[in-house]
This record gives sequence, C-alpha cells and structure tokens, in this order.
Amino acid sequence: MNILIIGSGGREHALAWKIRQSTHCRNLFIAPGNAGTGTVGTNVPLAVDDFVSLGNFCLEKKIDLVVVGPEVPLVKGIRDYFEQTDLLKSILLVGPGRAGAQLEGSKDFSKQFMIRNGVPTAKAQTFYTHQSKEALRYLDSCKTPIVLKADGLAAGKGVIIASTVIEAKTAMREMLEEKKFGEASSKVLVEEFLEGIELSVFVLTDGKSYVILPEAKDYKRIGDGDTGPNTGGMGAVSPVIFATSSFMKKVEEQVIKPTIDGLKKEGIAYQGFIFIGLMNVQGEPFVIEYNARMGDPETEAVMTRIESDLVELLIACTKGELKDKQIEISPAHAVTVVMASGGYPDQFEKGHVISGLEDQTGAYVFHAGTIQKHNQVLTQGGRVLAITGTGNSLESAAAQAYEKVKRISWEGAYYRRDISMDLARMKSNLKA
Ligand code: AMP
Ligand code: GLY
Repeated sequence: MNILIIGSGGREHALAWKIRQSTHCRNLFIAPGNAGTGTVGTNVPLAVDDFVSLGNFCLEKKIDLVVVGPEVPLVKGIRDYFEQTDLLKSILLVGPGRAGAQLEGSKDFSKQFMIRNGVPTAKAQTFYTHQSKEALRYLDSCKTPIVLKADGLAAGKGVIIASTVIEAKTAMREMLEEKKFGEASSKVLVEEFLEGIELSVFVLTDGKSYVILPEAKDYKRIGDGDTGPNTGGMGAVSPVIFATSSFMKKVEEQVIKPTIDGLKKEGIAYQGFIFIGLMNVQGEPFVIEYNARMGDPETEAVMTRIESDLVELLIACTKGELKDKQIEISPAHAVTVVMASGGYPDQFEKGHVISGLEDQTGAYVFHAGTIQKHNQVLTQGGRVLAITGTGNSLESAAAQAYEKVKRISWEGAYYRRDISMDLARMKSNLKA
C-alpha cells in the first residue's frame, strides 16, 4: 500500500524507518519530513495542519494509509476532516478524531475522564479566567511543590512546578490573567505533586482492543542529573528496569483497561496511539497525562524493539481488528541520546552543517530537526538528531549510542552525558 506519515521530527523518522521495512509498504511519503525521512521515503512540502492539501495529495498519490505523528493535526481534527470528506473517507488513518484527541488537547477533559473512569491520577482543581481570585486563594491552602497546568496545548511548556506558594501565584496570574499561553491557559489546573519516577507507556488501540508497545523512560530536563528547564525530551531508554511484569500488570489493569473501556462507554471512537505518562509512586501507577500520539524521543527507542510488522498492526488498528493481533517485542535494550542545538530549549541557531553522517555503522541515527540543502545536511531545529544504540544490555546500548554521538558534530552541538545512567545505577543497587 501507499503510506503517508504526517510530521517532521525524530518520531516520524523512526516511524518511517520501521514502516519502510514492512512488506505492505509500496510508496512511502512524509509531510513535511526532514533530511532523514528523505532517505527512507519521499518528503512532501505540506504543513501538518493543511488538511485540504494533505487530502488532495492523498488522492493524487492514491494513499491507502495515513499515520499522523504529532498532536496538532489530531487536536485540530484531521480525522474528522477525512471522515467527513466523501473522497477521503475510505482512506485508513491512524490517529483519533477531535473528541479522542481531547485526552491530550485538554488537561481538564483528561482529568475528568480519568476521574469518571477510575484511572488513578493526582487530585486536581480547575479554575477559569473569571475565577482568578478564588484560584489565588486556593493556592494558599496547597502543599508545596504545587503543579500548575495550562488546560490546552502549549508546546510542552504548559506545566509549572512551583516550589513556593508565591511562585505558584505568580505563575497563576501569568496564565489566567495575562494569558501567557493564550487560550490554552484560559483554564488552569492546580494539581497535587506526585513524588516518584516517570515512565511512558504506549498503547495502540482500535477503540475496543489494544496492544501494548515497549515502555520507555524519557529524560525531559536539558541538563545532566535532571537539571535545568524542561525540553521536548533529551533521551529515552527502553526497556525500563522498574517496569517489572508485576508493575506492568497493574498498569494494564488499573490504567489501560479502564481507559479503553472509558472511551467505549463514552462513545469516543479511538483508532490510534495512546501515550500514557505515568508516575510510579512507590510501586503504584498514577497517570500524569495522556497524549494522543507516540512520544518523541521515546519512539526512536521503542521502534527498534518492535519485531512485528508495524503496518500490519496499524491496518488492524484502523479496521477494528486488533483483537486478533499480538505484538512481538525484542528483549534487546535501546538507548536514545538526543543531540540538540546549543541554547535549546531557549534561543538557538539554525543552519549549521552536520558532519559525521556518512558513516552508517553502529547506532541508528534518526533525524529530528534537519534539512537537506544541496549535498549537505543542516541543523533546522532545537532537537536535531536522536541517536539510538541497541545491545543486549543497557550498558552496551548506551555505549553504542555515545560512541556514535562522539563521531557526529556541528557548531554548538549539545547532548546530555547521562542518559540511562540512573537506570544502570538502579540495576546495580538491585543486584547489591
Ligand atoms: P506534562 O506536560 O503533563 O507531561 O508535564 C510535564 C512534566 O511535569 C511531567 O513530565 C512531570 O515530570 C511533571 N509533572 C506533571 N504533573 C505532575 C504531578 N502531578 N506531579 C509531579 N510532577 C508532575
Ligand atoms: N517525550 C515526551 C513527549 O513526546 O511528549
């Protein structure tokens, strides 16, 4: 079949790499893609939310399957657009409609959904713009640290963890009164802080059944030792040592099943990925957030561990046939190290020439923010490359990734030196 992937990050390169290996994949297109996706398929210069042009392209190239990578087109209703357009409605599409994407698009919706469906999560209270006085008063009664969340999409910046009430009040004023995140912060959630260790769990569902993909741990902060501001993610590891089979059983029973049942009960058709951000609080799973898509950079680690033909699973997902499917997962370890532009997540320069990409040996190199210009690959985003090492131990996977990282360079390149090391320490403590 002819397949179109929508997006341009490391996640989309990893999806393209995996999808390209399927015997079902004839022509593969990525809109808009990057220099890396251009080596496995054909890039198409269309914006991820230009539904009309994307639809026309699908007709022109006889696309059979569309895989939506990022959240923006999902929240804006790409599925609804395809379903409501006669010529497009028979095209298979992986990704929920606007209603399902609210799991990510509105933190208030997802919190209420979890409460209604008995999914364990942090206690929270929602305040609207006109309730800013009550919100500030409420903060006086909260234990610190206090978690504030803008309701809508805020490009990963909408969560503030305030260590004092004063800091929380300033952040609340900026969000509710000064609309720091525009409409996205016209509602703000004040949430109880969960103390624990985070884990990302990925589910592919057809709305009734599901398969669980390999879990991963993300490294969100810019600096070594989890310091400095939050980023889109600076690295990922899969599998995760503390995601034992008994913990994952709890996740399936207490989180995944009630989530899928909840969607069914509430009449929300959902065909696509659900990314469940979890906190492991002393062995008990609590949901921090849902996303209506795969994670980035988690996908760059997770895809290398899936042995099944991904396209077969995606087709089953869109046709409601996942009940009959199993997913084969490799026992190998994967460690992904993100190489970013100097200055990210604040201001950074673009357009630097990347060297060291010719050598194809060793770790996988997934492109995130790159562009091909003539014969050169240039930096084009904050997160530039995601390097995934694999091996039969955590240590060997990390060594392979870092070996490759050292052979790639551009002016101002930055990466964390400690991806996976916390888990390696945890492993040696368990052995001791
Ligand atoms: P989100 O954008 O919802 O993924 O939140 C960003 C980050 O904030 C998460 O990855 C967590 O590290 C942290 N976070 C969010 N909610 C909580 C919470 N209730 N307790 C502790 N940390 C949280
Ligand atoms: N790595 C976190 C995310 O994709 O949201």
